[in-house]
Amino acid sequence: CERFRPVTTTPVPAPAFVPADRPRRLRRTPALRRLVAETRLDPADLVLPMFVKEGLTEPLPISAMPGVAQHSRDSLRRAAAEAVTAGVGGLMLFGIPTVRDAVGSQATEPDGILNAALRDLRSDLGDSTVLMADLCLDEFTDHGHCGVLTPSGAVDNDATLVRYQQMGVAQAAAGADLVGTSGMMDGQVAAVRAALDAENHLDTGVFAYAAKYASAFYGPFREAVDSALQGDRRTYQQDPANRREAAREVALDVAEGADLVMVKPAMSYLDIVRDVANDPTVNVPLAAYQISGEYSMIEGAADRGWIDRDRAILESLTSIRRAGAQIVLTYWATEVAGWLRA
Ligand code: PBG
Repeated sequence: CERFRPVTTTPVPAPAFVPADRPRRLRRTPALRRLVAETRLDPADLVLPMFVKEGLTEPLPISAMPGVAQHSRDSLRRAAAEAVTAGVGGLMLFGIPTVRDAVGSQATEPDGILNAALRDLRSDLGDSTVLMADLCLDEFTDHGHCGVLTPSGAVDNDATLVRYQQMGVAQAAAGADLVGTSGMMDGQVAAVRAALDAENHLDTGVFAYAAKYASAFYGPFREAVDSALQGDRRTYQQDPANRREAAREVALDVAEGADLVMVKPAMSYLDIVRDVANDPTVNVPLAAYQISGEYSMIEGAADRGWIDRDRAILESLTSIRRAGAQIVLTYWATEVAGWLRA
């Protein structure tokens, strides 16, 4: 496509204007474009979120997320090994228990599905990858909220912190390298850090979902974790209208001892990613989470033939990295790692 043969002999008028600068020079060939690319994707920067469901004997496809499944314990082990072989930087686990209750008891049971799966993967994979777990109660509560409720049905911040502390300790004991505090309770990073230290899990890090917005793009995740949620999470997750508030949330998490911080979702919040990346007071690694709805939007449009799937995937991930996220959580991690290695 670099050398165009004229298709018409119609005479072209002499140029009326000759540009002094020609940025197109550097776009002429794939080799030139590769040389001057400012952002590169590397499998090591990609983290694969994975779902494991108690009682399954084989993977169960998630219809709202074509290509993503709820795993059985065995299929999780196989998919995790495949991701590690492809070179992904880490795995983020979500558990779906059979029994749910008001306080999310299964989140803190050593043999609860999430903790059992962490043990499986730690024993299979040793230190060959970074094992992370979602530290939030919504997959485990019968009401589907990220915390425990007051008698009137509000999410009780400080009572929830106690459960997060127990959950963090259970995940650390099960082998998590990093616990992903995603519930947006005030003080959750400090609370979990203190509990980990008190139980001598000094090397277990806190991966803080620091700026997490109340997004409609979490829609497909509801099916992914069989969520029972009535209502929404707007009393604890951030209002999409707010930008400065994100700086406050991130500053708090860093001050509370977060080892990494995350912005979530990614694609509608690239300004927030850039703000945090540019903030000189944030001196920990920055991640962004390309969430379920962002995944399904692209899969859905590609399925209808409206966009080129593979190019759209790479463009979306490149854009998140370009905005300033060093690490990207994406359901395409294994597939894209394969492309990048090929
Ligand atoms: C909380 C949590 C959610 C997601 C990750 N952690 C759900 C929510 O906050 O509503 C969403 C991830 C996605 O949509 O891909 N447990």
